[in-house]
Amino acid sequence: MFYYFLIFDFGRTELEGTKHTSHLFMKATAKAHPNIALVKYWGKRDQKLNLPAVGSISVTLNELHTISSVHFREGLQNDILILNGEEAKPDQTQRVSRFLDLIRPRAALSAKAEVRSKNNFPTGAGLASSASAFASLALAGSQAAGLQIPTSALSELARLGSGSAARSIFGGFVEMKVGERADGSDAVAVPLADENHWDLKILIAITSEEEKEIGSTTGMNHTARTSPYYGQWVFSSQADLENMRRAIFLRNFTELGQITELSCLKMHAVAMSANPGLIYWNSTTVEAIHTIRKLRNREIPVYFTIDAGPQIKALCPAPYSEEVHDALQKIPGVLRIIKTSLGPAATLTEEMV
Ligand code: DP6
Repeated sequence: MFYYFLIFDFGRTELEGTKHTSHLFMKATAKAHPNIALVKYWGKRDQKLNLPAVGSISVTLNELHTISSVHFREGLQNDILILNGEEAKPDQTQRVSRFLDLIRPRAALSAKAEVRSKNNFPTGAGLASSASAFASLALAGSQAAGLQIPTSALSELARLGSGSAARSIFGGFVEMKVGERADGSDAVAVPLADENHWDLKILIAITSEEEKEIGSTTGMNHTARTSPYYGQWVFSSQADLENMRRAIFLRNFTELGQITELSCLKMHAVAMSANPGLIYWNSTTVEAIHTIRKLRNREIPVYFTIDAGPQIKALCPAPYSEEVHDALQKIPGVLRIIKTSLGPAATLTEEMV
């Protein structure tokens, strides 16, 4: 289903929510999937509210997910975070605690929480776990606090945790609106088309298991401060978003692929032009770019995208995924490949963490 014509103005969001009279739902669990941006988000217009400088369009991934449970408990001295079965590092716990501090006042709640979060994919693999983490935390946290908030406000809440998390509230093709309002209430994601709109596959080629040196937040802020090309990056994103919406609506794979590579290469070009320049790729990433372009010379429709790390994501219509998989696997330096299709929206779940 394509939602394009349903989207005009989503109005004032209700992040304040509606509070239940009693906190019946002190514990809740939610599942969310990471996403990969086809039109990239890179740069902020407001640090405090985490407002993006550009809109972005992503696909939510089916086979990967994060499940998080939030349990507000009287008597806890501090928030606790258990990540993949182990106590999290202090900086990770602090980030989650700051996020819960956004929820507690809205529900007039002071209790600290025990948070358990589990990924079904390796956290150290350089995949965007913050998107699925904060989308699942926004849903589980608000539900556990007894808040009932509409999905657009949930997306706004997730954005405060991590920009890309706003998109993981929805399934399929999702657009993150850049927004205009100073309070960020219109900087939310909206669904463009659900996961059944188009049978595409994404092959994630892992080229390094090392943790990246410069994370997205630091990298994009550094780029905005020091790249002479940053203004052009922001300006030119508008056309990419318009063209991408049309390509999705018409299921025009060539156009979708061309804009995907354009946006990816522009994002990396602007990052490389920062001072000092940021280079997220390794030699295998570059090799994979050439392999994918050579496949296209052989009439195989496949395009790439790369986030703030060395992994390369190949996008193709489902019938070509085996051929693309085989070609990527042959590249020396590709450690393994994760194959995924388009996935659903974040949901509450009974699954155990
Ligand atoms: C390259 O969402 O991780 O993956 O808002 O600072 O948490 P913060 O950044 P984050 O940045 C994602 C950057 C990207 C492109 C994208 O997902 O659009």
